[in-house]
Amino acid sequence: MSEIEIPKHVAIIMDGNGRWAKERGLNRTAGHEEGAKTVRKITSYCSDIGIKYLTLYAFSTENWERPKLEVEFLMKLLDRYLKKELSVYLENNIKFKAIGDISRFSKTLQNTIYETQNKTASCTGLTQVLALNYGSKNEIIRAIKKLNELNLEVTEENFETCLDTAGMGDVDILIRTSGEVRLSNYLLWQNAYAEMFFTQTYWPDFNESELDDILSDFSNRERRFGAI
Ligand code: IPE
Ligand code: IPE
Ligand code: MG
Repeated sequence: MSEIEIPKHVAIIMDGNGRWAKERGLNRTAGHEEGAKTVRKITSYCSDIGIKYLTLYAFSTENWERPKLEVEFLMKLLDRYLKKELSVYLENNIKFKAIGDISRFSKTLQNTIYETQNKTASCTGLTQVLALNYGSKNEIIRAIKKLNELNLEVTEENFETCLDTAGMGDVDILIRTSGEVRLSNYLLWQNAYAEMFFTQTYWPDFNESELDDILSDFSNRERRFGAI
């Protein structure tokens, strides 16, 4: 991949787990289980090729509307995933960070999240960011409240320091799998100048080679940022 420009910040709306499972006559939970394997695979690949931030949409503020059993399964899967992943993060110098309002999660899950963040805090390679109980509108309101509390002047720079993504910069590439073409309340501020890619592939089937194709397409796009 010699002529490929490696972006700093890649964000993914991991969608299609349920449909992947349904097509196979499986329960939706099997799709989430398989999706977690794709998270591991794509994180490791992004780490290898030198991407700095990989921000993955794992649970939205709207996903609480799903059946209780599915929500409970997702919470347990997340807890299990983070515990199992810790050694992988440390071996690969990957830092873990959560964005979103995790205060709505159980104390047990919150502890696992904080523990994983703390134990990987000194890693300097890729930062894997999981968006958990994340909604962009919710994040923006929390940021405004923080800005007020700190009595900071309302500027773009100050506002960004109050976002959950403080210090990470804007998204370079936004990918959504499964054929849906919408943002679903994801990183509305940070996607201001993102290059967007929508693929038909369901998240459990997404792979390194498809990401390569996207990166190569990204390298050929001219980002003008309003200039000519
Ligand atoms: C994305 O897959 C995972 C989460 C939102 C947690 P979905 O569960 O939305 O899968 P589809 O869209 O129903 O196929
Ligand atoms: C967005 O997917 C949220 C995550 C991927 C976590 P959804 O499947 O929840 O979004 P909609 O409902 O299709 O917009
Ligand atoms: Mg979906």
